[in-house]
Amino acid sequence: MSDPVVRPFRRADRDQLTALVNAHVCAVVPGWAVSVAVLLSQLERDPGQYVTDPWVVARATLVAEVDGRLVAAAHLRRYGTGSTVAADWRDAGEIAWLVCWPAHEAAGGRLAAACVRLLDSWDVRRQYADGDLPTAATYGVPDSWPHVARVFGSAGFDPAGGRTEVVLAGTLDGVRRPVRPTLPGLTVHRTVGTFGARSNAVLDGEVVGFVEAQDDHTRGGTLHRMDGWADLAELHVDADRRGQGIGTWLVEHLAEWLRLGGTRRFLVALGEEDLALEPWFGRFGWHRIGTTRRSWVRQTGRPG
Ligand SMILES: CC(C)(COP(=O)(O)OP(=O)(O)OC[C@H]1O[C@@H](n2cnc3c(N)ncnc32)[C@H](O)[C@@H]1OP(=O)(O)O)[C@@H](O)C(=O)NCCC(=O)NCCS
Repeated sequence: MSDPVVRPFRRADRDQLTALVNAHVCAVVPGWAVSVAVLLSQLERDPGQYVTDPWVVARATLVAEVDGRLVAAAHLRRYGTGSTVAADWRDAGEIAWLVCWPAHEAAGGRLAAACVRLLDSWDVRRQYADGDLPTAATYGVPDSWPHVARVFGSAGFDPAGGRTEVVLAGTLDGVRRPVRPTLPGLTVHRTVGTFGARSNAVLDGEVVGFVEAQDDHTRGGTLHRMDGWADLAELHVDADRRGQGIGTWLVEHLAEWLRLGGTRRFLVALGEEDLALEPWFGRFGWHRIGTTRRSWVRQTGRPG
């Protein structure tokens, strides 16, 4: 086997790149995959990052090749210095994602070193690394990508200051139908929420809790392998109303609504502060499929 060659991405790499990316995607959520078109479009502009993407001032995609085969790839972004850019992102650079075949971890390491040289040449104040492939469930470094974690670690990125999230998944089959309200007078009222349809629990004319899911991970049809999946976006019951079954009843209503629209499978991401809720979500049939470590940072020597 010859030494890996690191070079800029070329359009002719697109099929091998997509296969490599999808090997990483389907290790996070079963059956998920992105198309060539979705992947290529993320290299130009990321529709999934509608807040941070407008701050990007430069992008680069590098690949590592061994004996003519693409074995590793990485996408980098540089963020602007303007006052509209949020403080954490101002004058920052990131490896938005890096993927490599586990058998070619050495090539991944060579590629990461090239990425760091590029970030250094951009002279950014902060350097981040992430696993931000264009799906809703790929962010941070999932525990199913230990080779990527090692490559980032060897390149000087450290997740110590970051967060770990737990990902639960399951079908909607185990969620009971909402038979009767848990409290007399409790009703459900649907409104437009932060991300889509919100189911509100209303008692004596007041909203005492709400739940919301994102139920189009296909982004209008472009990510068709995500069809039938939804994830929990928001869930809240007023503190003085907790423990009376309202949360469970809201989830049952949500599941009923989602089933009507064709959703069959469900994801829940739990931050460290919500981990105690894992058994509660387990009651609906949603169990841990992985964890992900967020916010990998490399010290630059410039004041943070
Ligand atoms: C999670 C939440 C929606 C549950 O609502 P609820 O109306 O109290 O839920 P239910 O009455 O149906 O279920 C209560 C059960 O959940 C358990 N539970 C609720 N919150 C819990 C928590 N933070 N940690 C552990 N268990 C919890 C209760 O112990 C109770 O168990 P029991 O049935 O054995 O007595 C509510 O506690 C809440 O709004 N929490 C703050 C926001 C939040 O954490 N949202 C979820 C983000 S992923």
